[in-house]
Amino acid sequence: MKITIDTGLCSGHARCAATAPEVFELDDNGYALPFDGEVPAALEEKAREGAFACPERAITAQ
Ligand code: F3S
Repeated sequence: MKITIDTGLCSGHARCAATAPEVFELDDNGYALPFDGEVPAALEEKAREGAFACPERAITAQ
């Protein structure tokens, strides 16, 4: 699984990082930084939950 953040849609809601801090970090301005590289299998469910938590639908996890 890889994670893509649509930077045009991310508005800094931070719900991704609140829901799945193991996967999502925020930059200094509060915008999401995705997990770098391939998401380990053990974190895939968390990554999906974090993506689902984004009200802007800015995250693709697949
Ligand atoms: Fe951005 Fe959505 Fe996270 S708006 S900071 S990707 S909850």
